[in-house]
Amino acid sequence: MATQTAKQGGSKRTATRTYQISVIPGDGTGPEVVREGCKVLEAAAAREGFTIAWHRYDLGGTRYLRTGETLPESVLKELRDTEAIYLGAIGHPDVKPGVLERGILLRLRFELDQYINLRPVKLYPGVWTPLRDKGPEHINFTVVRENTEGLYAGVGGFLHRGGPDEVALQTSVNTRRGVERCVRFAFDYTRKRNVRRKLTLCGKTNVLTYAHDLWQRVFEDVAKEYADIQTDYVHVDACCMWMLKNPEWFDVIVTDNMFGDIITDLGAMIQGGMGVAAGANLNPQGVSMFEPIGGSAPKYTGQDVINPLAAICAGAMMLEHLGQPAAAEAIERAVIQVTSTKLKSLAAGAMGHSTSEVGDLVVAALGA
Ligand code: IPM
Ligand code: MN
Repeated sequence: MATQTAKQGGSKRTATRTYQISVIPGDGTGPEVVREGCKVLEAAAAREGFTIAWHRYDLGGTRYLRTGETLPESVLKELRDTEAIYLGAIGHPDVKPGVLERGILLRLRFELDQYINLRPVKLYPGVWTPLRDKGPEHINFTVVRENTEGLYAGVGGFLHRGGPDEVALQTSVNTRRGVERCVRFAFDYTRKRNVRRKLTLCGKTNVLTYAHDLWQRVFEDVAKEYADIQTDYVHVDACCMWMLKNPEWFDVIVTDNMFGDIITDLGAMIQGGMGVAAGANLNPQGVSMFEPIGGSAPKYTGQDVINPLAAICAGAMMLEHLGQPAAAEAIERAVIQVTSTKLKSLAAGAMGHSTSEVGDLVVAALGA
């Protein structure tokens, strides 16, 4: 997909790399934040000398209500052929909970085997946190959430549904292969991140004595190959407590799908809210997907008040993943400049600027 172009009038050849990126704006405020993200990514690409070809897909609640389709096979096939997916939000108030989440978002994660959900919890300068006496030097860790197994696997069923003897089962699936690849990724990531070189396993070994026993044994086995990484363990309930009381204890946390879902919403709040929380669904050998973690925020839809920074930061994670770390760092620096000097708040409607103005401010800061 790289195109070679000869510079006019010279013998020197420069390679202009064009990335083929799928875009799923999705539901609610998804299209508004993705629009700003694309704007910023294009500005960063121009700055670093590469280009992006966007391939748009109208998956989401509106299409489902019109056609009954969630994720058609033909679309899935096309997504597999692009280099990454940039997603806004999935979830529609007129669609029964679970239909779009399972049918689109989780199906994408599973079908594309995006087995890591990487969620940085980083408080940027100038951003308000509900934790008194904590600042950017205390809140800077990343959660590595397993993304294809656990309680999300969809294994279970009903007996006597609706009756007085009803039984509902939902089984947590934990395979050695699935746990090991996640844990291994987390060790590698901790080493590469190279901040405090500390990896904490978050589980519930005192109650989930099968599933989390497996996690702990795998964690301890893999740890032997990473003597340079300090290891630690916390139960998930205590993890929530320490995330509020001493967030500076954490560098990287690895955990299962359900616990990762829960603790990353808590993480989002201490880093300034859903307006800034970004995540990456990674398949290191395949097609990865990048999204703000906040959801479709129906009540703010179409008002140009939602904060696009989470989508912009997810875009930066995508560029980093695609091998453009300079562009990713430039976006992060620009976002920090905007949060520390321009925004009144990160909350929707309270930023002191509209959604599109915040995108413009980040673009302007990129050029500065
Ligand atoms: C998230 C979301 C999803 C999840 C929902 C929408 C299915 O909460 O990305 O954290 O539970 O994984
Ligand atoms: Mn969640």
